[in-house]
Amino acid sequence: MSGETDLKTLLESLHPVAREGDYVYALWPHGRPLEGGVEAAVREAEGLTVVLRRDEADSLGLRYDFVATWITLQVHSALEAVGLTAAVSAALTHAGISCNVLAGFHHDHLLVPSADAERAMDVLRLLARGVVLRSERPDDREEILELTASAFSVSPVTGEPVEGTPIEVGLLRGLFDCEEYIPEFSIVAEMGGEIVGHAISTRGWIGELELIALGPIGVLPHFQKRGVGSALMRETAARATALGEPGIALLGSPLYYPRFGYVPATSLGVQPPEAMWGDHFQLLTLPEWPDGVRGTFRYAEPFNGL
Ligand SMILES: CC(C)(COP(=O)(O)OP(=O)(O)OC[C@H]1O[C@@H](n2cnc3c(N)ncnc32)[C@H](O)[C@@H]1OP(=O)(O)O)[C@@H](O)C(=O)NCCC(=O)NCCS
Repeated sequence: MSGETDLKTLLESLHPVAREGDYVYALWPHGRPLEGGVEAAVREAEGLTVVLRRDEADSLGLRYDFVATWITLQVHSALEAVGLTAAVSAALTHAGISCNVLAGFHHDHLLVPSADAERAMDVLRLLARGVVLRSERPDDREEILELTASAFSVSPVTGEPVEGTPIEVGLLRGLFDCEEYIPEFSIVAEMGGEIVGHAISTRGWIGELELIALGPIGVLPHFQKRGVGSALMRETAARATALGEPGIALLGSPLYYPRFGYVPATSLGVQPPEAMWGDHFQLLTLPEWPDGVRGTFRYAEPFNGL
């Protein structure tokens, strides 16, 4: 049975699916017959490597380090197809996600660190649509401002069309030029040279504690509900974690952001700058979040002009 060989078609029909549970690589004990539960095996001069579910490895007493999520690319790629593995691993590498590839007769399979699994799925879904995430460049700014005007042409607060230029455009201009701007946290989603989504986070404070505040975030209206916003949210959190930021604050819908782990800031002892914001002011705590944080959140200066 032959499979697809054209790279563009392959990428458009990747259909990544993550299996439930964790998988591990382990060395199979020398001389022991292979038992059920082994999902892949590679024989080498030094011994037999197996890939199996973590709970199977635990019950067999096998040792392992790498704990992975198993992602199957459902596309039926021909074994001789050129470029699929390179395109997938380049996209994951660009996102800082390591990946081990196994090729089966029908499909390619990726083992990525479990902690990065959701982001890896974002990268793969966006790759299928030809979308990449990258940091903003200075010559992107006018396009980002136009995108923001388009994304906020309907008010997220009232649901009504906005007259004139949405306030988020002026806010973003101010954020680009303020002291609290942090280049790594102005992230664009680009497709075929067009910027289709953007998220910015800038420095904010709770007392002396420095953290970041996310927003505005916008996706071109005809690109919404395709995972771009979620990918920008998770990319921001991954970059913040990597840079040792303790948390991310935002003002937004309590129906949207909890899916990324955000909780009402007040539940953590942090008050919004305006008490009336209530549960719309949310916080995501990251591994560097210190104990005992209390206080009122303070945004970058351009937010004060709103
Ligand atoms: C909010 C926004 C960035 C999300 O981007 P996106 O690419 O559409 O998001 P995704 O495709 O990753 O996720 C879509 C999901 O989020 C939900 N969603 C989006 N905005 C929402 C909101 N304000 N309240 C509740 N749910 C929302 C969608 O209903 C959809 O739900 P589903 O997965 O259950 O179908 C985008 O819709 C946008 O630009 N909106 C206009 C500007 C805005 O409101 N920005 C946020 C305030 S700063």
